[in-house]
Amino acid sequence: MSAGHALTRAISARFAEALTARPPDPPIDVACARVQHAAYVAALAALGVTVVTLPAGDEPDGCFVEDGAVVAGGVALITRPGAASRRAETHALAEALAPHAELRHMAAPATLEGGDCLRVGRRLFVGRSARSNDAGIARLGEVFGPLGYRVVAIALPARVLHLKCVCSPLGDGRVLVAEGALPGGAFEDVPLVTIPAAEAYAANCLARAGHALMADGYPRARAQVEAAGLTVTALATSELRKADGALTCLSVVID
Ligand code: GLY
Repeated sequence: MSAGHALTRAISARFAEALTARPPDPPIDVACARVQHAAYVAALAALGVTVVTLPAGDEPDGCFVEDGAVVAGGVALITRPGAASRRAETHALAEALAPHAELRHMAAPATLEGGDCLRVGRRLFVGRSARSNDAGIARLGEVFGPLGYRVVAIALPARVLHLKCVCSPLGDGRVLVAEGALPGGAFEDVPLVTIPAAEAYAANCLARAGHALMADGYPRARAQVEAAGLTVTALATSELRKADGALTCLSVVID
């Protein structure tokens, strides 16, 4: 894998057991999740990204590969997820990334999940969350600081699982963010595109070269992204959302 490549992982047969803040009702439909995942992979490929999909493992949350690695500057920091049940997921990811990036690791008590990391140019914004702690954030700085990245921590409100649950990079130096979701000034001088709080889920989009993959069913958020000049492809995300997942969670993109 090199620039313009992405890693994804197929949906586990145990996806219905994925971690969730509250039990989904109706329960997760694994077959439907697989259809949605396939559409995501196809949409990513249509953006010109070469997608490598790892086979599903036993881990229920294994498709959410974003949480297992932070990749920048030719280095992949293999994380130590804050959710103990998710730590085994990183093995397959490390194996897949090893031929393509210099691997770094983190040790207890550090925890970090990639969903808390958002890169804009040479800045790595990181959510301090229930999943990513100060030692994990310090490790991020230790690994990427010498490569020219500055780590900026953002304290997340308790109700926010990951930083990118409420924002995401638009790929052009701007950040898409749900209104009122984060403390003012969290992104320093980075220009923001704001969407209504009522459509916060759609703040997690995967943007690349003027295109954005967005969750379907959020018309006001979509209109804002289109007004910001991006072309939108809307994707069904019902089963991901039931598993507290979103679009960026499904890939590690190597730029
Ligand atoms: N199910 C995604 C997570 O909680 O980590």
